[in-house]
Parts: sequence; C-alpha cells; structure tokens
Amino acid sequence: MIIGVDHIAIAVSDLHQAIARFTQDLGLALEGQEDVVSAQTSTAFLSSITTRFELVHPLADQGPIQKFLDQHKGKGGLHHICFLSDNLIQDIEILKKKSYVFIQDTPSDGAHGTKVVWLHPKSCDGVLIELAQKP
Ligand code: CO
Repeated sequence: MIIGVDHIAIAVSDLHQAIARFTQDLGLALEGQEDVVSAQTSTAFLSSITTRFELVHPLADQGPIQKFLDQHKGKGGLHHICFLSDNLIQDIEILKKKSYVFIQDTPSDGAHGTKVVWLHPKSCDGVLIELAQKP
C-alpha cells in the first residue's frame, strides 16, 4: 500500500549551488549527501516541516540524470516524485494488474538503504514516479 509521499526530486547541474539555495536561501535542513552508485547519482536530501526534497546530480557525468540534463540543455528541473510503500512487491503486483508500465519492476537499491522501482511517465500523466520501501 502507498502510505505517503517520501520526497520530490529535482535534477541539478550544480549540486553545491543547489544545496546552498535550499539551505541558505529557502531555509531547509540538509539531511545528508549520498552517492548512489547503482543509480549513478550523487544525491542530497533536504527537509522542510512537511516535505523532503532530493537533489540529484549525475555521478561521474554518467547515467540517467546526465541524460536528463543533456535533454534539458544542461538545466535542471523537476525529475520525479517518490511515494513510500509499505510492501513494494505487493504494490508492483497491484499496479501491474491495473496495466501500469514500469521502467524497471525488480526492486533495486535506492538512497538510505531503500528498495525502489520506477513507474514510466506514460503511466502517470508524464511524471516519473519512484516507489520506495524503507529497510
Ligand atoms: Co528519489
């Protein structure tokens, strides 16, 4: 079952500058930074009272976020919304029965030890959706 929104992710071309904007200018708290090698991303998580944000930057100029930046002429943008699941395998089955298309439907490693899968934007009004289950 989907139990809430875990985070909203923004692709950024300059991670340090984006962290400074969110912490110094917008007043969010930096939870931490983590390189997720399996996803080829360098991430930073920030929190406000109601919402968490993930800033995603390509690791070593490669992977899906580099492709996203290339497609957006080097500029960042809204990348995905992550919903929290309390049973990822069950939610995959339920959504597959409803004909949702997954980019990858076998859970892989996400940030903070989570397991994640990705719903294709064509199934969700053009928005890339991450489903995550905490360890
Ligand atoms: Co995410």
